[in-house]
Amino acid sequence: MALTRTQEPKHIVRPTKTVRDSDAFEQSLRPQRLSEYVGQGEIKGHLLIHLQAAQERKEPMGHALLHGPPGLGKTTLAYIIAREMGAQIRVTSGPAIEKPGDLASLLTNLEAGDVLFIDEIHRLRPAIEEVLYSAMEDYALDLVIGKGPTARSMRLDLKPFTLVGATTKAGSISAPLRDRFIHNFKLAFYTAGEMERIVERSARILSIVLEEEAAQNIARCCRATPRVANRLVRAVRDFAQVAGEKSVTLARVKETLEALGVDEQGLDRTDRLVLCALIEKFAGGPVGLSTLAAATGEEEQTLEDMVEPYLLQQGYLQRTPKGRMVTQRACDFLGLSMPESVQRQLL
Ligand SMILES: Nc1ncnc2c1ncn2[C@@H]1O[C@H](COP(=O)(O)OP(=O)(O)OP(=O)(O)O)[C@@H](O)[C@H]1O
Ligand SMILES: [Mg+2]
Repeated sequence: MALTRTQEPKHIVRPTKTVRDSDAFEQSLRPQRLSEYVGQGEIKGHLLIHLQAAQERKEPMGHALLHGPPGLGKTTLAYIIAREMGAQIRVTSGPAIEKPGDLASLLTNLEAGDVLFIDEIHRLRPAIEEVLYSAMEDYALDLVIGKGPTARSMRLDLKPFTLVGATTKAGSISAPLRDRFIHNFKLAFYTAGEMERIVERSARILSIVLEEEAAQNIARCCRATPRVANRLVRAVRDFAQVAGEKSVTLARVKETLEALGVDEQGLDRTDRLVLCALIEKFAGGPVGLSTLAAATGEEEQTLEDMVEPYLLQQGYLQRTPKGRMVTQRACDFLGLSMPESVQRQLL
């Protein structure tokens, strides 16, 4: 049965998390050790030193904040940090912690040396965040017992632990919380060579034989994002299997990408829609995010988190204080002429 357009998985090339991503597929491809984690050389270099130093001193490594666009490997790295330290990892997320008491109970249940991983840490409510301050700084919980004039505060000691926080929005983290992280690691988009290694690794684990040009093409069209690469590998596997192809060819990859609406630069329909809207409806910009979202029928959040980072990184879009603006590169790519108003602004 051929996969028709209407059955297409929507947004397969977006790095969005879906329920299925938490399934065995993502787990099976997740590197377990630092040595298997491709790219992010600078972060790995720092981590190796801090991990070794902490182990020699028999102390926790120091709290670490991981930030960067979705699908680049923050959660993977949090698990690796715990494994490399030989520690247990407790996993939660900003929105899952509803009351200060929830966090207090998580913290008091930590064993010495544990890693507490808080995903989407920018979504912690301020009252909950405050509980973290003394926990991070002094390994202590300041509790207020009772109410009104009889209220008194009590300090409860915690076992030494390492907090690893992950966020796609480092700018939304309050300064007091940000300052309490000892390490601040910003994950970058991967190079073509690194993406090729990730594609080859995933194909190997999934027992898929990819011809060299096929692997290179996937690596070029995956928004420099491992999660997207893994999904493309999986999609290509299905197309190849249905076609009875044992070794995946470049032609099969191209067929898959075309069916998914991904072009030679790795841009999908929404990317092109955003760039076209910017040029044709807003004379190239500058235009605000909410206006752009309304014009393209996408949510602001989606544009900001999933679409823009890659377009910015690739130089198809620029962010100015007045809003988003198109670039010459985007116009050339779409075969449209640069709006005059943008040309004037660039002079
Ligand atoms: N450096 C890497 N080397 C190899 N594979 C990687 C690497 N980073 C990520 N991956 C793969 O990409 C998938 C997605 O990574 P991960 O879930 O860690 O991203 P994330 O940054 O936590 O995303 P989100 O912001 O959506 O939570 C992982 O399952 C893993 O298979
Ligand atoms: Mg994650």
